[in-house]
Amino acid sequence: MTTIHINQNQSLEGAAQAVTEGKLVVFPTETVYGLGAHALDNTAVASIFTAKNRPPDNPLIVHIHEQSQIESLCVNVPDIAYSLWERFSPGPLTLILERHHTVPAIVSAGLDTIALRIPSHPRAQEFLKLAGVPIAAPSANVSGRPSPTDFRMACEYMDGRADYIIDGGPCEIGLESTVVLCREDRLIILRPGKITRDELSAVAGPRIPVYFLEESEERHLAMSSPGTRHPHYKPVAEVRIVSDLIQWKQDIDQEKTLIMGVLALEDQEITHPGIHVLRFSSVDQYAREFYKSLQDLDRQGVDIIYCMPVPDEGVGHALMNRMRRAAGLE
Ligand code: TXA
Ligand code: MG
Repeated sequence: MTTIHINQNQSLEGAAQAVTEGKLVVFPTETVYGLGAHALDNTAVASIFTAKNRPPDNPLIVHIHEQSQIESLCVNVPDIAYSLWERFSPGPLTLILERHHTVPAIVSAGLDTIALRIPSHPRAQEFLKLAGVPIAAPSANVSGRPSPTDFRMACEYMDGRADYIIDGGPCEIGLESTVVLCREDRLIILRPGKITRDELSAVAGPRIPVYFLEESEERHLAMSSPGTRHPHYKPVAEVRIVSDLIQWKQDIDQEKTLIMGVLALEDQEITHPGIHVLRFSSVDQYAREFYKSLQDLDRQGVDIIYCMPVPDEGVGHALMNRMRRAAGLE
């Protein structure tokens, strides 16, 4: 398949038309690039699973450009969902609601629920508006690998697999959206992201508690959000999280024959000859460039990527979640 690249000044009309006809279009969002197909077209949605090599039991997020589209995609929407849309959409928030029977089951891997998100990236908004139909889109990586956060990464994964790739520059957030299961009486964070529990709690108020999946009584929901259990975000190199600097220095002395890379904040002391060190000036930048850095170090043929941890709070919580998964710890 020849893949058409659309640069940042070009019209999106061709790609939008193509997606309504069942083609696959990679588009940028503020979190990561997505691999989009017409959500109401069974065959088009099936082709996403093939292009990504995605396990068929892993449901997709449906992308829309405005709230008015919600009604035709889900039923029994609790009030709290509207409050969350008001506060956080468009933006990096995905809500899990009850699926409308007209949405093909394949989108949700057979579940009764549907994941919905309104991305804020201007090119995503423009594309969704022109297409005029809901777009199912997982991250545009090959299954298991780090998600693409710039055009080059998107092309590396999807040239020859998607019909169009839209360039939207580097993604502003760099980690996938916060996924929240939305019930009338509680919210459960299935995947942490830029929007934190505290921010959700501030909207939910004292009567609607917000849980992380691990601490909720419904841990079995992990089964219904398989994205939380399949291997994810793994580069070719082995990823290790550094917990003890002294131990780490001993380890790298013993592993001299291997090529090593390190990801760290600017103030973390880690000088060592012969190591590729990538530094970030803030946790936000670390999160934004995390996947790209894994990819860059893979390109340089690094064997082991050591990641310096960050405080497990705010976007740091989402970053640590992805780091642990990249390291195969979750
Ligand atoms: O930021 C994002 O969310 C990006 C961009 C492209 O929007 N998309 C993304 O999609 O990360 P994906 O497919 O890589 O991750 C979707 C996550 C998976 O963990 C999946 O299991 C979960 O959402 N999910 C989707 N539908 C669900 C449902 N009905 N119930 C529970 N979890 C669901
Ligand atoms: Mg993904």
